[in-house]
Amino acid sequence: MLLPGQRNRTAMQTLPGFRDFLPEDCAKRNYTFGRWREVSRRYGFVEWEGPVLEPTDLYKKKSGSEIVDQLFNFTDKGEREVALRPELTPTLARVVAAHEREFKKPLKWFSIGQFFRYEKQQRGRLREHFQLNCDVIGEADLAGDIELVALCIDILRAFGFTEKDFVIRISDREFWTDFLREKDVPADRWEEFLQAIDKFGREPRDKTAEKLGKLAGPIFATLESGGGKSEKLTRLIDGLRGRGLAEFVSIDVGIVRGLAYYTGIVFEVFDRAGKFRAIAGGGRYDRLISQLSDGAISMPALGFAMGDVVLGELINEIPHAREVMQKAITIDREIDVYVVIAKEERRGDALKQIQQLRERGYRVDYPLAPLKVAGQFQAAEEAGAALALLYGDEWPQVKIKNLATREESLLSHDALLDSVGKFFNVSASV
Ligand code: HAM
Repeated sequence: MLLPGQRNRTAMQTLPGFRDFLPEDCAKRNYTFGRWREVSRRYGFVEWEGPVLEPTDLYKKKSGSEIVDQLFNFTDKGEREVALRPELTPTLARVVAAHEREFKKPLKWFSIGQFFRYEKQQRGRLREHFQLNCDVIGEADLAGDIELVALCIDILRAFGFTEKDFVIRISDREFWTDFLREKDVPADRWEEFLQAIDKFGREPRDKTAEKLGKLAGPIFATLESGGGKSEKLTRLIDGLRGRGLAEFVSIDVGIVRGLAYYTGIVFEVFDRAGKFRAIAGGGRYDRLISQLSDGAISMPALGFAMGDVVLGELINEIPHAREVMQKAITIDREIDVYVVIAKEERRGDALKQIQQLRERGYRVDYPLAPLKVAGQFQAAEEAGAALALLYGDEWPQVKIKNLATREESLLSHDALLDSVGKFFNVSASV
């Protein structure tokens, strides 16, 4: 029990792995979402969204054991087993199977939302994060994979990153399933092997070797020689080369992906310096829709998700990307007009004008309580206002001040709307 005067510390703190978004953090988040949305639209993707709470079974069925261990799940008041979504792909597969006839294929859908995984909190991994998901449904051709990787590259370029900052490591699960077939490993054990290969380099070598048994030697040799090219991977790289994007990718058969549903090309995005965890990951999952709809609907599919946490760390790390973000945030935060109320008797007249300006779409601010004129001009500067309008002794004229050039003029208050309009039209056209 709390003694009087003792603060309830637990209630005063966020839960481990959850974040508060102060205005500066929200500005950064909006910037990230803005770029994600803008480039996805550039590629002809349309936005959709699913629920944040789903039946736990949706993930038990298909996501793979790692994600099921990390579920934020509980029994709801109707005795249903539910989970906060750890990822979007199973929801997408369910939605697409249910609405399959309503849309022309291929679908190119993107979504921006929050996801929850009960992970050990560490650098780059929290218990909630935001993801951009981009998926193509109903396209079996490699052209879809090339388009998706190109989109992923262009999204990161929109943040100011170059081929020196990040690399997309691409692989093909079929390379490994062919290998396992050749070695007479039964198909129902492939997933187990793929999960072990996925952990190569991330868990102690002995442990991986134990899981791989007598295949440890040849698998380690393949991973370490960097070998394992395939005709499909070569065509994919050629397709990207044709677009001038080959510098951003490399083939790496060590990329297998932890999620169970992938069937073909898979990829993950890392910073070149190798300092951070994966920024994004995805691949083909041609059988998931069929599996989730118990065979009723079958459609090839592919997609990727990019998280906001590692992306934010990389933006902070790369000076150019940081500058691009700061510039965008500053511009977005700026207001248009600050109304200085120099004489309290003029407050009513000023508010009438403020209302009219806001109705026309201008961003306008003013002091809610009486404040010294110098303090008001300081607030105007801090808010990044382009113009200040001063309501004081000059009434019925109003002083209009260009805060960038410091030029001032006096105008009759009823000519003000026109003048402000002209000012912003001219500044918008330069
Ligand atoms: P994923 O690799 O599990 O893929 O997650 C994608 C990205 O989300 C990661 O690369 C990482 O940036 C971010 N992320 C994941 N977990 C966390 C976490 N705990 N904290 C912070 N960031 C995190 C998927 O989720 C697949 N469903 C992607 C996909 C879409 N595949 C096909 N379509």
